[in-house]
Amino acid sequence: MSTPDRPLPAELSLVSVGPASATQGASPPAASPGVGMAATRVPSGPTLPDPDPASLTLAISRYANELFSAPPIDPTVSSGPTSAPSATTAREPAAPPMVDAPVAQAPTAPRAANVPAASPQSAPTESPAPPSRREYEGSNPFFAEPRFDNAALDAPLDFRIGLFDDEPRELGRVDAPQRARAVPAQPEAPASPYVAHEINPILALELPASGGPIDGHALKREFPILSERVHGKQLVWLDNAATTQKPRTVIERLKTYYERENSNIHRAAHALAARATDAYEAARESVRRFVNATSVRDVVFVRGTTEGINLVAQSWGRRNVSAGDEIVLTHLEHHANIVPWQMLCAETGAKLRVAPVDDRGDIILEAYEKLLNDRTKLVALPQVSNALGTVTPAREMIAMAHRRGAMVLLDGAQSVSHMRQDVQWLGCDFFVFSGHKVFAPTGIGAVVARAELLDSMPPWQGGGNMIVDVTFEKTVFQPAPARFEAGTGNIADAVGLGAALDWLTRLGIENVERYEHGLLEYGTQRLLEVPGLRIIGCAREKAGVLSFVIEGQSTHELSTYLDKQGIAVRGGHHCAQPILRRFGLESTVRASLAPYNTREDLDALVDALLRRTGGGGW
Ligand code: ALA
Repeated sequence: MSTPDRPLPAELSLVSVGPASATQGASPPAASPGVGMAATRVPSGPTLPDPDPASLTLAISRYANELFSAPPIDPTVSSGPTSAPSATTAREPAAPPMVDAPVAQAPTAPRAANVPAASPQSAPTESPAPPSRREYEGSNPFFAEPRFDNAALDAPLDFRIGLFDDEPRELGRVDAPQRARAVPAQPEAPASPYVAHEINPILALELPASGGPIDGHALKREFPILSERVHGKQLVWLDNAATTQKPRTVIERLKTYYERENSNIHRAAHALAARATDAYEAARESVRRFVNATSVRDVVFVRGTTEGINLVAQSWGRRNVSAGDEIVLTHLEHHANIVPWQMLCAETGAKLRVAPVDDRGDIILEAYEKLLNDRTKLVALPQVSNALGTVTPAREMIAMAHRRGAMVLLDGAQSVSHMRQDVQWLGCDFFVFSGHKVFAPTGIGAVVARAELLDSMPPWQGGGNMIVDVTFEKTVFQPAPARFEAGTGNIADAVGLGAALDWLTRLGIENVERYEHGLLEYGTQRLLEVPGLRIIGCAREKAGVLSFVIEGQSTHELSTYLDKQGIAVRGGHHCAQPILRRFGLESTVRASLAPYNTREDLDALVDALLRRTGGGGW
């Protein structure tokens, strides 16, 4: 390979943003019987074993078999009280009564033992190391209230959330620094005539990573679509930032779901409802474990990152953001992390502020810090830029925002498939991601936030599944996560998401990170052999994205040409026009990586570009 005259992007490296995997001791379920069910519990019909011996569904099935042999709980279902205290919101005293059901008890996972302790805080101007989550919680009034029992994090797991209600509480306005005040400590749930949704996941099942280095060629064989031929050529899939392909285990999981489990969930008293509910709630636990959230109640299923951000903007944002407030974004954002905030600003009179990036594509932290002030209500930032591949210093930026009392939403759409996630270590208030970018189906994703925060937010969409009780006079809402899952959700694809995350966990995210780092360095060097090629985005830390332009070539024609060679890349603005315009461009060609890519894939790309540009290469 020839050495180009142009300087190589310096210090190119992938970064591990989180600590090593948190080992969470599995704990057998407590005595409370059964898997998630709706009005009544099915006293027979164990759940369906998954063909995959390491799967959560299999484990749940095992537990369910034991539990179903126990006497079923009292299946009495009441239509609920005919009257209940009315409640009003702080902002809308005349609004129809819509109230929140108190949460009896949230199961918590043990806190990761190996979350690294941060250095003691130094003067803010010196960009100090961000505090550990514990330090942060200790210094932040949000966590100072008895709203969350930190000691409980280390306590044995309780497997049951009883989402019962007969004492609706009032919704209140929640301001970031004082938000605990609007989240009253929840008393022990009283006995209730209601039997609401129960979430009974199997927590903390060990899914050991293979530990071995990744062999991209072997991995390709797990993805049926990668043996496709297009235009008579072997498919080379380098459009992973747009969507990843799906391993056979995910495809099979969907097939099993539809062949043997399909039902609506949380509702009926029949065996398939139990199977489907089990599978759905097991997937919620897979998400919780994958991002190291403290509780399954922290995980809300949504259609994807875009819907997740809109949920936060419309629910948290409309309640907490007012005229004169500020929302800080970065120049790197995908349109999905711009437009919902613009819409919120247009409605409320708040202002958007944008943290700039330098010529490499790194956020200028000093400028970001200067944007933060007492009016900053929320910072929304990406963990990885979809257009440039920049890995942002998310943990540090989150800590900086928190020091000014602002909330933080972290867009994980482009990071989840590349690096370990640990929302406790990162400290973000909201983490959002899409399943389809992490080997799962389209149309499913998650918002991850502390359940207490979610409980303080008004529902976004109304309908079935998210209520405890409805009369024409009033509605009592479920606590999180059900309050944000109105209607019949994307059950099968949530199950597919769980299977994908379990698959990736077994593969080992650190293995993926290491392997893709090598591919990124190799691809960068090879691309620079192409005459007139300029890589856009040379951040100090990059993940899986090679964005480029070639002098005198249209990005549309280049990507069409590559398609004819069987090579799938994205050419265009990548739904990130502001950052491309920052570099004086309207579009780039983007090759984006996954662990099933190989050096040969990158050779195919570069050789095709060399042929196109007359630079030689075969
Ligand atoms: N957000 C996706 C991308 O970057 C669609 O291509």
